[in-house]
Amino acid sequence: MSLSISLTLNGTEREVALDDPRVTLLDLLRERLDLAGTKKGCDRGQCGACTVLVDGRRVNSCLTLAATLDGADVTTIEGLAREDDLHPVQQAFIDNDGFQCGYCTPGQIMSAVGLIAEGTTGDDPERIREGMSGNICRCAAYHGITLAVQQALRRMDNDRKGDAA
Ligand code: FES
Ligand code: FES
Repeated sequence: MSLSISLTLNGTEREVALDDPRVTLLDLLRERLDLAGTKKGCDRGQCGACTVLVDGRRVNSCLTLAATLDGADVTTIEGLAREDDLHPVQQAFIDNDGFQCGYCTPGQIMSAVGLIAEGTTGDDPERIREGMSGNICRCAAYHGITLAVQQALRRMDNDRKGDAA
């Protein structure tokens, strides 16, 4: 059985044929759409490596059936930068040594973007750690990750205030 869905993927509208209605968003991205920035860790919702944004909210793409996404807006790590300008969260991970091997990093960054949009933590490190607790890092880069989220929060907040002025 085949079906097709239309979705907005990193700002571009796409029609995607699904030859298997059980395909996950993660496998669709990595194996059929050549977007390998999203990583497969556990493939069972426990590590956060596969985190992407669906309609602005962070989801584990390994637990999300692509067939449920008709009409959705999906953002992956490949869709964050604006031409040569890194997203503030990407830049903050570099500035604060927020990664070591880098395997978990796309998921950490996407989760941080979603967390900042949720607006629930302020720059309180404990609340940021709690909010990022679904993302596992085998290298334990958690200190740098927390600093990176704090930096990005402050910068995005300042940018918003600047835009509003
Ligand atoms: S690969 Fe999806 S949560 Fe681990
Ligand atoms: S930086 Fe290595 S798993 Fe996170």
